[in-house]
Amino acid sequence: MAFREYKIGARLFGLALGGSMMITLYMPSLNIVEVASTETGLRKGLSYGRVGGFSVEDPFLQGEGKPKTVMLSQDPSTGQAIEPVYAYVYEAGTPFTSSIRHPRILGAGVKDLSLEQGRIGEANQASGAVFVVAEGSWNGESVSYIENATATRNWSPDAVLSAAGDANTRYIGSGKIMFVREGCWWCHTLLPEETQDWQVFGVPPRLGDYNSESPTAFGSDRKAPDLLHVGSRNSSREWMMMHFFNPRLVQPHSIMPRYDYLWGDNDAAGNRIDFVQWRNEYNAYVSGARVYPPEVPEPAADSEARYLIDFVLSLK
Ligand code: HEC
Repeated sequence: MAFREYKIGARLFGLALGGSMMITLYMPSLNIVEVASTETGLRKGLSYGRVGGFSVEDPFLQGEGKPKTVMLSQDPSTGQAIEPVYAYVYEAGTPFTSSIRHPRILGAGVKDLSLEQGRIGEANQASGAVFVVAEGSWNGESVSYIENATATRNWSPDAVLSAAGDANTRYIGSGKIMFVREGCWWCHTLLPEETQDWQVFGVPPRLGDYNSESPTAFGSDRKAPDLLHVGSRNSSREWMMMHFFNPRLVQPHSIMPRYDYLWGDNDAAGNRIDFVQWRNEYNAYVSGARVYPPEVPEPAADSEARYLIDFVLSLK
């Protein structure tokens, strides 16, 4: 019979199309709002702060209006030694992250524990607050939730910052802005895939890792290593410092651009950075006229380079 193959083909096509329409229309779909935040999701949301793209409080993407993440090993209100915890410090006026403003997005269980035991509803943006991630139990399962330590432990943002000191303070939220602004995602992904990627870049993320993050910076076209867990493979601040100042210092054939301008005018000691002299010395090193490359200046505490390094090292 003429056109027999076409008839068979047309029927199979109809079957496939019809089948996929049935699945789309009638299979229960995943309701993203119901997905409970994981501990990773809570920590990311709390350290990144509100929206990490263009926003009213930071229209020029300079990392303003972001919380600080500190490692505490003593209780700032009683002075007693405690198990080290990460505290997420929102100074007076710092915009709260979405999950504090809209606890519903934390998902069932996490939301209830955060509101009832964590008392996040009592946090006040105008006077600031300190949050920590706590463990609780919900329907017999262990669940991480957000605790408003300002209400539960009487920790004020200022007391926590001064108890931690600069050495234990990280500007992770401001660093995420640098990552977005500098377009690191043109080359790097933050999304290991469910393939051999596992062996090199670590586990792929879970849906609940993103409940409070905006924007996500998955990247699309990978030209360089995935960075979702880079802080676990390489936790050296020194290496990051050299690599961002000029990647060729540590990877001679790297195509990654240098980000030395994120250092600003002065180094950590307050001395002016002489970029012209640095490059002359570096060129002398590359041409073999010098044995060692010039020293990379230590980034100042409020420099964009420090923000970026704090963010990258937080990717565990
Ligand atoms: C033009 C593409 C490109 C851009 C843009 C880029 N990188 Fe890279 N990056 C690379 C390449 C290629 C490598 C691997 C070689 C090397 O280490 O330099 C790399 C390596 C890295 C590493 C080490 C990865 C590992 O597995 O140890 C880090 C961390 C990193 N980049 C961070 C960044 C950050 C942060 C930005 C944005 C400020 C950025 N990169 C922008 C191409 C890029």
